[in-house]
Amino acid sequence: MILNAIATSLGLLTALVAAQAESDLLVKTNHFTIQGIVEPNTTNVRTFRRVPYAEAPVDQLRFMPPVTKKPEVAILDGTQYGASCIQLNNGQPTAYTEHLPGFLLAPGATTAEDCLSLILWAPRAVANRSLPVIIYIPGGGFTGGGANSQYKYGANIVRDNQDVVVISINYRVNIFGYPNAASLNQHNLNPGLLDQRKAVEWVYENIAAFGGDPSRITLWGQSAGGSSVDKYAYAWSDDPIVQGFIADSGVATLIGKSAADTSNFTYVAQQVGCNQTDADEAFTCVQKASAQDIIAVLNKYNVSTNGGRSLSFTPAGDNETSFVDYSGLQRDGKFARIPDSLCDDMSGRKGGTGENEMGRAILALPLFWGIP
Ligand SMILES: *[C@@H]1O[C@H](CO)[C@@H](O)[C@H](O)[C@H]1NC(C)=O
Ligand SMILES: *[C@@H]1O[C@H](CO)[C@@H](O)[C@H](O)[C@H]1NC(C)=O
Ligand SMILES: *[C@@H]1O[C@H](CO)[C@@H](O)[C@H](O)[C@H]1NC(C)=O
Ligand SMILES: *[C@@H]1O[C@H](CO)[C@@H](O)[C@H](O)[C@H]1NC(C)=O
Ligand SMILES: *[C@@H]1O[C@H](CO)[C@@H](O)[C@H](O)[C@H]1NC(C)=O
Ligand SMILES: *[C@@H]1O[C@H](CO)[C@@H](O)[C@H](O)[C@H]1NC(C)=O
Repeated sequence: MILNAIATSLGLLTALVAAQAESDLLVKTNHFTIQGIVEPNTTNVRTFRRVPYAEAPVDQLRFMPPVTKKPEVAILDGTQYGASCIQLNNGQPTAYTEHLPGFLLAPGATTAEDCLSLILWAPRAVANRSLPVIIYIPGGGFTGGGANSQYKYGANIVRDNQDVVVISINYRVNIFGYPNAASLNQHNLNPGLLDQRKAVEWVYENIAAFGGDPSRITLWGQSAGGSSVDKYAYAWSDDPIVQGFIADSGVATLIGKSAADTSNFTYVAQQVGCNQTDADEAFTCVQKASAQDIIAVLNKYNVSTNGGRSLSFTPAGDNETSFVDYSGLQRDGKFARIPDSLCDDMSGRKGGTGENEMGRAILALPLFWGIP
């Protein structure tokens, strides 16, 4: 009796799993199977709202290059947006908060250190399709932002065109993405840029399962995301994976810090009680500190009361993912030879105030994404 019941429920379960496996909302990737949803208010778009492309960059992985995700047996839940990367939020007004609320992150979006996921929009399953792919790198000055913002959702472009797969990615920002600690010895200084590459690799390996064509990927970014795209062209010149670039309002040279000046990390370390004189010990200590304590140091920092000294964490010139001498690389032809659409509105007519960049973001992005 009991055995019968078990057999029956097992049978039902098998039938259920088989039915689900046929569904285009349950997709098997290299390392896991993930459940998506039909995008609300559409019939022809499926969305996977939290697709992890690397292990959580926490504990001993904090400040380190991203690590390939371990296989998971349980079906992953892609029906809810994942956390955006932990970021600066000091309550001070910025161009974004004043002119474009919700642009960096959707109102109420949660943030956490465990944030290395992407959002993926694809047409509902159509047999044997192999569609071009857009990967979007959001901006935010390398200190904030993320994929979870209506301005970066790809649902409408997929709904209206049905001929593209769109992805927006999260990557580490601020000190978590660009620590430049003395202990790193001028190598792998920009885990946030390495996250972007990891996401591109994940897409290349898995996008066919979502109806995408791994041989037709375009990498697009805006502002810090545009700068990231341009940096990518130099960092991965021999193996870009993607076939096209769109660097919108950002170039490789936009933000660059010296690898030699590790003072900002040391300052934060001391503020969270890691004042060891040995750089490795201080580094390990900060890896163990609470992420909230670390970001709190940045949030409450006041330049005026700290002798006018700035405190910021953006890509540093390790000559691996971010370079000191881009002119030299251009001269020597050391960049990916693929189509690149550059729109630089940052450094030109408005004297680099960013005013024009915001204008572009307001006008261009909603038009492209088709935000109503
Ligand atoms: C769906 O449409 C309804 C009615 O127009 C709207 O209130 C809701 O916000 C929409 N949902 C999404 C996710 O766009
Ligand atoms: C998909 O492609 C396979 C092999 O190329 C073919 O056998 C099959 O009929 C195709 N299915 C559809 C629905 O076109
Ligand atoms: C580090 O900080 C602790 C307590 O905050 C203090 O006792 C210690 O003297 C400091 N060490 C150095 C080298 O500044
Ligand atoms: C920073 O400190 C200055 C000088 O004490 C003060 O006037 C200013 O309001 C502070 N800024 C913030 C954001 O607290
Ligand atoms: C942070 O680094 C900048 C330049 O790299 C330096 O001018 C500034 O003094 C540093 N800030 C602190 C708090 O050490
Ligand atoms: C990066 O390359 C420049 C020359 O282009 C060199 O001066 C600098 O020392 C290098 N930095 C590192 C961290 O390798």
